[in-house]
Amino acid sequence: MNKILAIETSCDETGAAIYDSEEGILSNALFSQVDLHKKYGGVVPEIASRSHLEKINLIVQHALDDAHCTLDNIGTIAAVNRPGLPGSLLVGLCFAKALAACKDKKIIGIDHLEAHIFSTFLEHDVPFPYLCLTASGGHTAIYIVYDFGKYKRIAETLDDAAGEAFDKVAKLIDLPYPGGPEIEKLATSADYQDFFNYPRSKSKKSLKFSFSGLKTAVLYDLARQGAYDLKNKKFLKKDDLPFKKKVASSLLNAISDIFIEKLKEAYKKYPDAKAVTFVGGVACNKFIRSKIEIFCKKRKLQFFYPSPHYCTDNAAMAAFVANYKAQQNKFDDLDLDILT
Ligand code: KG4
Ligand code: ZN
Repeated sequence: MNKILAIETSCDETGAAIYDSEEGILSNALFSQVDLHKKYGGVVPEIASRSHLEKINLIVQHALDDAHCTLDNIGTIAAVNRPGLPGSLLVGLCFAKALAACKDKKIIGIDHLEAHIFSTFLEHDVPFPYLCLTASGGHTAIYIVYDFGKYKRIAETLDDAAGEAFDKVAKLIDLPYPGGPEIEKLATSADYQDFFNYPRSKSKKSLKFSFSGLKTAVLYDLARQGAYDLKNKKFLKKDDLPFKKKVASSLLNAISDIFIEKLKEAYKKYPDAKAVTFVGGVACNKFIRSKIEIFCKKRKLQFFYPSPHYCTDNAAMAAFVANYKAQQNKFDDLDLDILT
């Protein structure tokens, strides 16, 4: 009974995964709500929690079937219980608690960010200590990671997350949600050139990220170029694809430069780091990955990033964390609650 069922419902993905302490990940089922939220240009919390409720049973069954097992083979049930959208977290946690109570299983609450931090281990053995750059729609931070479950946040964002900057600028120039992949597509076809030189960090030496200023800078630059009507909040170059490509490519350059600036500072503070990992939805971005790869090569650091399906939200990464917590005997009680 060394198998774990992990459930992820922190935002807009319903995920369930089965992990075996000897064989590793056995299944990883996911329902993405992206199409439900697209027309609103972002995640609508009420829609998200209702959809989790609708899908959770199916997704858990799917994960069990894919792993060729039943609940009888499961020893521990884990659920992401922090941080995230309250209504969404509650669906996953209550489902897990109900299963644990009626089937007499152990339960573990998982930190979504810890799951991202260790997601690289699903495919690679990363040497400790290492620096982990986490960039998603809700979070942007750098951690120094000493061991499983032992890590310290050394840089964080003062305002928006990097993924949020991609999503908000994409919305400004009439690209669909989520903006990151759309921006990457356009930037690729503009050969990743930097046309508009948007501002980077105000203080290169600081370990604080800030992306809301970048979004505002893009907005005012669009207005200055006659591409945006500030009064009516309207983008005026809807059909001008070459212009949109320039904005996308310039934004991508600014964000990747900001990441490199902060990684440089982090490495100065933690020169014992042996590797860098790049995780979270934004780590799907090939251009940013190539920039970090160059940064690491220059410093003889190893570089790791998960496959795209382990970068964006998934239950497999939560299952991995649950496995080492179970081995450390770190179980929770059934009165476990969400933390947002
Ligand atoms: O980790 P994730 O799936 O969910 C959160 O925990 O937020 O990350 C979603 C974020 C979105 O902001 C999305 O625009 C961004 O990741 N993203 C990307 C790319 N693919 C997804 N950003 C830049 N380039 C990409 N290729
Ligand atoms: Zn996430």
